[in-house]
Amino acid sequence: MKITILPGDGIGPEVCRQSVAVLDHVATALGIGIETEEHLIGGAAIRETGSPFPPATEASCRASDAVLLGAVGTPEFDHLMPEDRPEMGLLKLRKALGGFANLRPAAAVPALIDSSPLRKEVFERTDLLIVRELLGGLYFGGPRGFSDDRNEAFNTMRYSVAEIERVAHVAFEAARGRRKKLTSVDKANVLETSRLWRETVTRVGKDYPDVELDHEFVDACAMHLVTNPTRFDVILTENLFGDILSDEAAVLTGSLGMLASATIGGKVDLYEPVHGSAPDIAGKDIANPLGAIASAAMLLRYTAKNETAAETVERAIHWVLQEGHRTADIAGRSGTMVCTTTEMGAMVADRAVELANVDRAYHAV
Ligand code: NAD
Ligand code: IPM
Ligand code: MN
Repeated sequence: MKITILPGDGIGPEVCRQSVAVLDHVATALGIGIETEEHLIGGAAIRETGSPFPPATEASCRASDAVLLGAVGTPEFDHLMPEDRPEMGLLKLRKALGGFANLRPAAAVPALIDSSPLRKEVFERTDLLIVRELLGGLYFGGPRGFSDDRNEAFNTMRYSVAEIERVAHVAFEAARGRRKKLTSVDKANVLETSRLWRETVTRVGKDYPDVELDHEFVDACAMHLVTNPTRFDVILTENLFGDILSDEAAVLTGSLGMLASATIGGKVDLYEPVHGSAPDIAGKDIANPLGAIASAAMLLRYTAKNETAAETVERAIHWVLQEGHRTADIAGRSGTMVCTTTEMGAMVADRAVELANVDRAYHAV
């Protein structure tokens, strides 16, 4: 497998270093061939080349099996217009790779139940997957811009039947492999795009009679995520709603730093933690690398199609948490041992290798 590594900005390089190290260790231990190449994106790329998504980065990504990203965005370029910002590098990358289905799983981790802002009894059995449409809606719809006198600004939310159908199929298939329940989230009481969304998802649902489909308005869904998160199995929603709901779902697990994502369906798969570049804690070696590391696990699952390797990484994460190790964001209560980003990454890599070796020894006998 060829993998392009895009560390990006802020805590991006800090967490990415750990996810790459875990990936390397597990690949070596399990005999998976991996070749990595690192490139610039976001603010780091603007600084070096003037562009947030330079041609050399694009060429490497297009020639890869997968891309593993840290995060983009830095206050240094916050004064720039959307078109020139670091974040545009990420949007151009997503468009170039073509992945339209962004999978963001959020599940209660037993060792972290006390770090959740929700009461234990509300949250402890939560296990949901957000399928976020990633290439449409307000992010990419035209026309967009400012009026000549800059007294008005406008964006266009636009969806075609084909765009809705393809992501709906991914969500129904995912539900089939889980608890067979799909909640489609929209704002069909107000928006035409949402009416089309609901009609189309309902029609696609006819192909999946074994999956129970319901529809919720996005405002109600935001409320249900904090009052009754166990009602959800798979949540399917459009780009902006999915962006907002996934940060909300992430923090239920204890910290935004815990959540991973995979973007599939295009020419090249993309893996990135759900969090951003966190300028407030960048450079201090205190960021939580587990979302980035769990994204590497998703790479092993979806691109390498190696479930054993993916589970090895996930079990290593749970093991380290079970032992009481915590980065500052999830430290919460007494009895836990606060560690740095580097230490957390090293411990996960260590446990993953140990699990991989046990697994190999088992298969050898
Ligand atoms: P953010 O996700 O960077 O941070 C939100 C809060 O969560 C901050 O208090 C931060 O310290 C904390 N946090 C985030 N990740 C953490 C981690 N791994 N460990 C511990 N704490 C963590 O969102 P923001 O502050 O709204 O945005 C900052 C920059 O990141 C902006 O430029 C934004 O555009 C960008 N951004 C990028 C991505 C991405 O690259 N995928 C995603 C979201 C935001
Ligand atoms: C995310 C981020 C991005 C998004 C930004 C940085 C463009 O918030 O991946 O959740 O809005 O998609
Ligand atoms: Mn986001």
